[in-house]
Amino acid sequence: LPKETQQAYSAHEWLTKLYHHLIRYTKDGKNGLTYLKERGITEEAIDTFQLGFAPTTKDFIRTFLQKKGFHEQMLVKYGLLRRNQDNSVSDRFQGRIIFPLRNHLGKTVAFTARAVEGQEPKYLNSPETDLFQKGKMLYNFDLAKKHIRKQNEVILFEGNIDVISAYQVGIQNVVATMGTALTEIQAKLLNRYAETVIICYDGDNAGVEAAYKASLLLQQVGSEVRIASLKDNLDPDSFIREYGGEAFTKEVIATAQTFIGFYMRYLKKDYNLSLEADRIQYIEKVLMELAKIESSVERELYVKELSSEYHISMESLLAQIQQYRQKSD
Ligand code: CTP
Ligand code: MN
Ligand code: MN
Ligand code: MN
Ligand code: MN
Repeated sequence: LPKETQQAYSAHEWLTKLYHHLIRYTKDGKNGLTYLKERGITEEAIDTFQLGFAPTTKDFIRTFLQKKGFHEQMLVKYGLLRRNQDNSVSDRFQGRIIFPLRNHLGKTVAFTARAVEGQEPKYLNSPETDLFQKGKMLYNFDLAKKHIRKQNEVILFEGNIDVISAYQVGIQNVVATMGTALTEIQAKLLNRYAETVIICYDGDNAGVEAAYKASLLLQQVGSEVRIASLKDNLDPDSFIREYGGEAFTKEVIATAQTFIGFYMRYLKKDYNLSLEADRIQYIEKVLMELAKIESSVERELYVKELSSEYHISMESLLAQIQQYRQKSD
């Protein structure tokens, strides 16, 4: 490895320990600890995820790292320090909860830092470097991978805090994209470890849209996809906090829909189903998707649903599907 990269690994390791020490044992970390406790995060989870706190000081970290002999230029490049207008440098993360981002070997390669007092942005991330590319990693993959393999199933979240919440109630096959769209690299990585991916994004519009896109990509790489839905404005963390881990497993994860089930609901947003013309278009679009299903048993299940919801005979729906299937041969 280049000297600078080695130094960067080392700086991230020192900082992971320092931030964690501050939140666990010092007055400087008190605000962070209070914040996490109020959110129901346990000390055990704080240790497991090496969570920390960056104090509200301009040069706490700069002083620490420079005493260790790290070069200022490297620290700025990796986003641990920030260069100011007057060319001085100061701490980049101030007054924030620190989530170390670990690579698949468990080494910290970046940080994401959450505001605790309403600062903007809510999350401040390390820049992309040779150590860290957000689209190539998944939060918590290093701890989750053995559970994913064993269960042959992975639960995919948006947020780090969703992962931590789930982990706390004993659900360990969990990773997060950290808010960005799932990439092909991440999809392929998951596919190597498990047959099934359960997408469990936030219950808002952005979450539903992202779930649709992620499900297409995951199917392309050969994964079995299911989509879990959360009631409006809840995310996995807030659901678990409100209703507990057992309810999350039984009511959210176990009831996750197949792609088609999800798609039939998702597609409705584009149509006004009280209009006949829209209704026809909607049904035809769903039938086109059903035509892609190989299992006739599964096809019939959904056809039954459509038939009773829209009062169209099973025969005519099935006949339409046959037409679409012949066309695509
Ligand atoms: N994120 C980010 N930058 C932002 C907002 C979000 O990098 N300005 C990422 C974070 O990794 C975050 C994820 O996107 O965990 C999902 O965003 P969001 O749902 O808004 O945050 P939550 O995970 O719900 O965090 P919290 O509950 O603390 O608000
Ligand atoms: Mn510890
Ligand atoms: Mn969100
Ligand atoms: Mn949240
Ligand atoms: Mn969220």
